[in-house]
Amino acid sequence: MDKLSVLAARQPAAIGRRATLQGWIRTRRDSKGGFSFLELNDGSCLANIQVIADAKLANYESEVKHLSPGCSVTVRGDVKPSGGKEQATEVHAAEILVHGWADPESYPLQKKRHSLEKLREWAHLRPRTNTMGAVMRVRNRICRSIHDFFQEEGFLYVHTPIITASDCEGAGAMFRVTTLDPAAPARTPAGAVDFAQDFFGKPAYLTVSGQLEGEIYATALGKIYTFGPTFRAENSNTSRHLAEFWMVEPEAAFFDLEDDMALAERFLKRIVGDVLRDCPEDMQFFQERIDDTVLDALRSVAERDFQRLSYTEAIDILAASGEKFEFPVQWGADLQAEHERYLTEKKFNAPVILYDYPRAIKAFYMRLNDDRRTVRAMDVLVPRVGEIIGGSQREERLDILLERMHEQGLNPDDYWWYLDLRRYGTVPHAGFGLGLERMVQFVTGMANIRDVIPFPRTPGSAEF
Ligand code: 4AD
Ligand code: MG
Repeated sequence: MDKLSVLAARQPAAIGRRATLQGWIRTRRDSKGGFSFLELNDGSCLANIQVIADAKLANYESEVKHLSPGCSVTVRGDVKPSGGKEQATEVHAAEILVHGWADPESYPLQKKRHSLEKLREWAHLRPRTNTMGAVMRVRNRICRSIHDFFQEEGFLYVHTPIITASDCEGAGAMFRVTTLDPAAPARTPAGAVDFAQDFFGKPAYLTVSGQLEGEIYATALGKIYTFGPTFRAENSNTSRHLAEFWMVEPEAAFFDLEDDMALAERFLKRIVGDVLRDCPEDMQFFQERIDDTVLDALRSVAERDFQRLSYTEAIDILAASGEKFEFPVQWGADLQAEHERYLTEKKFNAPVILYDYPRAIKAFYMRLNDDRRTVRAMDVLVPRVGEIIGGSQREERLDILLERMHEQGLNPDDYWWYLDLRRYGTVPHAGFGLGLERMVQFVTGMANIRDVIPFPRTPGSAEF
């Protein structure tokens, strides 16, 4: 059997081939002349292929004329030039085998358009829609670019653990992993839950970031990246937060913050360039149906230098902007989404890299500057989405790292192995984390992060 994807069958090069296509019916239209047009989709591309089903087919009256959206079929036929404007080719069916019916009375995707909110209730069926299909193909292309980019730059792919005993971000937003019986956990003589009797003999959690373990491998192998699921139990019901999301985190020995920012900029440009080149049909769909600014935004990322400015400069710009912000602009306070949007959308209309943040609002591991007020942190902000990358040069000096841990109420004993990296052959090093879903949001223009991941996990929601 000469199997062809819809993508391949749509190419003029396929004309003249006898081929087998397999997929799901999107629509059926019967012509008066005694044949039917079927639109077949198999997920290989956004477009369908038109199948001409002649009344002479053995099962035309009994089956073909009853096909409806969602039915699964195998079509054997000849690829021929199409008379239609929409497509170069069409398939003239010699045989149509029906695998599965989809009762039009109950199949939810019968109706042409549903809201994205409604589609979230059907996480098992929404991949069959144009929007989710396009999102998933672009997401896949981005993941491939992530690996291509870091492999070509000489980074080694390292798998950091998903279950961990340490809190990288120190924000306490971790999911606990336990096999203790919640109704009757083992208890200490004093009555507290006795995690010494838990599976790992101590409290354990789902990781919020692979960075700390990434640093272990970077300070041995030079340049590494980790790419996997991360988990945060923050109760934030926003269009940019998930409880389970994917993060790619490069970490490089002998990198300073300048190297780190340059790497981040090359990385984002590479992803955007690959998507623009390889996903033109899906990107045209996002431009027309989701957000008509998305192509311009991507081209400007690919072509223009990112704007770099220190946190202090950003505060000055915001304070002088004359904008009415809901949250006050004040040196020392974290930037809010409205501030990020002003900088990326109104002021620069481009990605912005902010660096040198106040020490009090950033994690303990970021390298302290000589001013002792700021740390070598950097965030990459993009229009619409805001923060897409967070990173820093790491504190490689043992005494200052200890000072920072005490300041943030962390117990150095819990991080003895992290401190050992500073005791034995310490080196300057830096890295960052890109949230995959925020990147997919930026690239596709999708407004809600729940619509760029197959199965979104958010507070109160983990149905599938
Ligand atoms: O800025 P964050 O918290 O940085 C870290 O975790 C560092 N340890 C990374 C590193 O230096 N290796 O998170 C990094 C990125 C954010 O910029 C954002 O894109 C994404 O991860 N992110 C989330 N994405 C979706 N839902 C959430 N709840 C997210 N929290 C962070
Ligand atoms: Mg951050």
